[in-house]
Amino acid sequence: MPHFLDLAQIAAADLKAMLADARAMKAARKGLPKGAPDPDPALPGRTLAMIFEKSSTRTRVSFDMAIRQLGGSSLVLQAADMQLGRGESIADTAQVLSRFVDAVMIRANAHEDVVAFSQNAAIPVINGLTDRSHPCQIMADLMTLQEHFGALDGLKLAWVGDGNNVAASFIHAAPKLGFDLVLGCPEGYGPRKDDLVLAGPAVKLTTDAGAAVAGADVVIADTFVSMGDKDGARRLRDLAPYCVTQRLMALAKPGAVFLHCLPAHRGEEVEAAVIDGPQSLVFDEAENRLHAQKAILKWCLK
Ligand code: CP
Ligand code: NVA
Repeated sequence: MPHFLDLAQIAAADLKAMLADARAMKAARKGLPKGAPDPDPALPGRTLAMIFEKSSTRTRVSFDMAIRQLGGSSLVLQAADMQLGRGESIADTAQVLSRFVDAVMIRANAHEDVVAFSQNAAIPVINGLTDRSHPCQIMADLMTLQEHFGALDGLKLAWVGDGNNVAASFIHAAPKLGFDLVLGCPEGYGPRKDDLVLAGPAVKLTTDAGAAVAGADVVIADTFVSMGDKDGARRLRDLAPYCVTQRLMALAKPGAVFLHCLPAHRGEEVEAAVIDGPQSLVFDEAENRLHAQKAILKWCLK
């Protein structure tokens, strides 16, 4: 069953094919109204259920529009409103939804719950963000970098701040897609060691934000307080020196770009002058969630 749970588990050739497909689908529907189906809709009659345990703007809307453009339809389910929220098991929920819909996208607190869902489902399951990773986001980010730079091979990406779920999916992608990644994270906020070991020499970790950004083609930030983090005040204090400022950006290559998955907190993890400035690609990045999600749905369902 082609579950889309983590980039580390998906063959590099498949990831590359999905990125190429996303770019081709984006080009093929240029000029069409956003709600119009693709010229050659790939998934007519297919239904995607989306389960949300946490808030979402981009993931929810991009997947909804994605399945529509592919000729299918979607259901949005808040976990708290389902029997899941009253204690029905993940295993039973997965088996029941497998009888009604063709694929499920889940945004969950605990990564293990998405894995358990996939193990009990007879249909593809997509990770729409967990505490552990955010693979759909990184597909859109890599597509954005391909559009801007032409290729990913040899690019140097710098992640600055919390070594969180989004950072983990960049780490998973680096050895597969040929870019180098340096994470600049304070002590205690680094990524999981097993992810670093698996990634090998493509990924490096430092506590020095300036060293991480030096000579980078791409500088990436994310919120200092992720959904589910309880220790917001401490995180803001510890991570404050890792704000992506114009001064920090100046250490990157002159043509460097800035990415952020959004939602952003101007003045915390990034200066407004950076995220709203000429180096920022954040709204192309947000738009590309749509095109990348379409390629993921096709990979799961075709
Ligand atoms: N970047 C992202 O996943 O945004 P949402 O939380 O709005 O879905
Ligand atoms: N790291 C953030 C990403 C939000 C899209 C979070 O988990 O809240």
